[in-house]
Parts: sequence; structure tokens; C-alpha cells
Amino acid sequence: MDEYRAFGGGLGLARAQELGPEQTIQEISLSGLRGRGGAGFRTGRKWDSLRNATGTTKYVVCNAAEGEPGTFKDRTLLRSNPYQVIEGMAVAALTIGAREAFLCLKAKFEREVDIVTKAVAEMEAAGLTGDLTITIVQGPDEYLYGEEKAMLEVIEGKAPLPRLLQPWERGLFAVMPQMGWEMTPPDPEAPLEGLNPDLAGGAEANPTLVNNAETLANIAPILTRGAEWHRSTGTADSPGHVICTVVGDVAHAGVAEIELGMPLAAALDQIGGGPRSGHRVKAVLSGVSNAVVTSDEIDTPLSYEDMARIGSGLGSVGLIVYDEAACMVDVAHSLSRFLYVESCGQCPACKFGTGEVTAYLERLLELRADDRDILTISARLRTVTDGNRCAVPVEEQALISSFLRSFPEEFADHLEGRPCPGRHDLPVPKIDDIVDGEAIFDGRQRFKQPDWTYADQPGRGD
Ligand SMILES: Cc1cc2nc3c(=O)[nH]c(=O)nc-3n(C[C@H](O)[C@H](O)[C@H](O)COP(=O)(O)O)c2cc1C
Ligand code: SF4
Repeated sequence: MDEYRAFGGGLGLARAQELGPEQTIQEISLSGLRGRGGAGFRTGRKWDSLRNATGTTKYVVCNAAEGEPGTFKDRTLLRSNPYQVIEGMAVAALTIGAREAFLCLKAKFEREVDIVTKAVAEMEAAGLTGDLTITIVQGPDEYLYGEEKAMLEVIEGKAPLPRLLQPWERGLFAVMPQMGWEMTPPDPEAPLEGLNPDLAGGAEANPTLVNNAETLANIAPILTRGAEWHRSTGTADSPGHVICTVVGDVAHAGVAEIELGMPLAAALDQIGGGPRSGHRVKAVLSGVSNAVVTSDEIDTPLSYEDMARIGSGLGSVGLIVYDEAACMVDVAHSLSRFLYVESCGQCPACKFGTGEVTAYLERLLELRADDRDILTISARLRTVTDGNRCAVPVEEQALISSFLRSFPEEFADHLEGRPCPGRHDLPVPKIDDIVDGEAIFDGRQRFKQPDWTYADQPGRGD
């Protein structure tokens, strides 16, 4: 805390108090900051719509659930500087007009839970959170917990099943969906029948701002040093720096802050020490949300626009590397199984579609598939997103169809029953920790079943 203050901790909040909400939002918008939770949504625009949303009760949520395979940046950030994240929460609350905030991470992140518990207490004691109340939420291990509509459910004490409406349409503790949302403050002269007047927000939607932990850590430096400073690094459409994780077939696993726009290959070299000796990179994934990047695209700059240009995406910049020895059918199967298992089943096309794709990929792996199975995979990938509440099936569609497109010869070999010399049984790179350059993956994931229980044997997916 002393060190944080010595390096200017607290100045971001002071600047926000001086500027007031409108100018704070303007500064964040001018900086071009984009959300680090995966989609790259423009933070200034998000804050502006929350600021202008009608309602007397609003909330701020910091998303530090970090469940996407390949990603370890939020825990690295919280381990090294939790204060900057908390200061970002305080500025966000002041700006949108919230009095209560929730810092959400997983119960199993014991080390980070201790760190943020201590840091919140220190920040409150030092008066660096204003009159904001911050509650630390220790959520479940499920991937969906990190999805913002599911996160609100967990904060309310329920299971991580994404709700229908967006957090700004139906925020925390909003109580009357069956009557439609009352977007104006309730009238004390004519209270709605059956409504407990003591409930926060009454019949309002309680618009809630959800930002990723790294996004919030960017706020204080932007306010103290200015939007232009933030724009002085990175690219025009992806300014600033980002925290990048590298795991898989590299010399060593690692996490580091890099300038946006750095070529992907350079990030693999700098953070991961390049490919393992004597090997070459065949494929890179940025998490499980985007299309696979092949070796001929490896010099693509790590920016939102350049990754989109090659048909992929930056995601949360968790780079998973596979070299020439890895079997791409095996990778496609294990990641499809991950999404199938983690799908909550509220939308039939998602649960059944990811399940069927996984089952047919397994037939391919076992050299017992025929042409119809490939056709079924393609057909399911077209419909898996039907009626979806969240992006899980969109991820399945983007990821698995990209493997079919990029490595057709490996799929053809499996279809024609040719023995595959590639490495199989590759783990889902869901990171528990990175110690001395070695990534420790969650060994329990392969035992997880589609109903979220754990079996004695590794799951087969069908
Ligand atoms: C299945 C799923 C899991 C997600 N997990 C996370 C997560 O662990 N952390 C996170 O910040 N965002 C996660 N997101 C994205 C959030 O829903 C949300 O977009 C993000 O927290 C917004 O923050 P930002 O605007 O600062 O990027 C996930 C999305 C999906 C569909
Ligand atoms: S799209 Fe899939 S994961 Fe998302 S809510 Fe529906 S069933 Fe659950």
C-alpha cells in the first residue's frame, strides 16, 4: 500500500473527483480503452450508457473470474497490484453513480482472495474508495461464472446460469421482471402493488456495470497521465498495453505486459522463449473464443483490428501454442468437449449441439467416423447458436469450424482411418498457476461431466 501510494496511488480517484462524471467518461473515451474481458468493448461507451441509464440504484462489478483456458493475466495482476484494480472500481462507481460494488473471483483462487481482502481493507482505511462499499464474492469454478449475466446470478446467491437480459437492462437485485422494467424511479405516492418499498431500486432495473479486472486497472493511469499518454502506445484502434499469457508448446510458460500491436510471433518469443527446441509452431489459439491462428499468420499484430482481419480475435490474449507434433483433431475434440461440459443447458441447441459435435469428433479420433459424421458436425455448427443466451455456442462455432477449415488434411486422414502420428490426449489448458515457467493445468477438468459433476474416469464427451 505504501509503495502504491508512493507511485501515485489514489491520484486517479482524486482526478475523477475533480473532473466530475461527464469529463471522466470523456477522458476514458478519448483514451480509446477497450475492455480486456475478451470482446474489446469500448469502455468509455459502456460507462456512458450506464451513467445515462435511468435508475436511482446502480452497481459496479469487477470480473476477475478468469476461467478461459490459456488465461492467467487477472490473477497475475491481482498478485502484483490489487490496489490499481480497486481504485478503478472506485472511479467507475463514482462516475456511473453507484454506491456498492462487487469484486468477483473464484473461491479456489485462495491466494488472490487473501490479497484482495487485505487490499480492500487497506484502501477503505486510507479513504481511497470514497463511500463505496466493496464486497468480495468467492464464486464457483464453472467457466460460465465469468459470463457477466451469470455472474450477476452468482452475486445474488444463485447458480451461474446466464439470465436473459443484459446487466444494464436487468441489473443486480432487480426484483420485478414479470411486470416489465420500470425505467423511472418509483413513485412514492403511488407504489406498485405487491412491491416491498424497502427493496433496493424498487421496480427499477438497477443498471449494473461489469468490467474485467484488467480494464479497471487501466483507469487510474489514464486519468492521471491523460488520454493522449494512453494513445501514445499501441495502435490507433487498440491503444495501450495488454497483459498476455503464453502456454503450451513453448520453451516456458509466462505472463507479461506487452504493447498492443506487437507481432504474435514476437510475443511468443519474448514471453514464452519461442517454440520448444527443434520444433515449430503449427497453431495458436487466443483462448477458446476465436478461430485458430495458423503458422502462416503468426506475424499478425496483436491488436483487435488485426486479429479480426485474419478472421480470429484477440480475446483475453491468452495464447495457447501447438507445435507440429500436436494432433489438431485431438485439440478440436478436447476444446469442444470443454465447451459442451461447461454449457449450462438452458438453450437446447447449445447443449445438444456442442455435445453432438464433441461425440462425432471423438468418432473421428477413434478412426471410426464416416462422411456423414463430418456432414453432421458441419450441420450442428450451423445451428448450435440458435436461441443462445450467451456466447458459449458462438465460441464453439468459431473455434471448431476454423479447425475444419485450417487442417482439412488431418481430418481427412482420421476419416480415412490412417493412423495419426500426432500427440494425443492433450489437456485443456485451464490454468491453476504458473510456477517457474511451468503452467499447472486443472487436472480435474477432464473428469468433469456435462452435468457439472465429476466422474472417476476421464469424460468421453458422449
Ligand atoms: C462463457 C464466458 C465466460 C467469460 N469469462 C470471463 C472472465 O472470466 N472474465 C472476464 O472478464 N470476462 C469474461 N467473459 C466476458 C464477460 O461476459 C464480459 O463481457 C466482460 O467481463 C466485460 O468486461 P470488459 O468490458 O471490461 O471487457 C466471459 C464471457 C463468456 C461468454
Ligand atoms: S448459450 Fe449455452 S452456455 Fe449459454 S446460457 Fe444457453 S445453454 Fe447455457
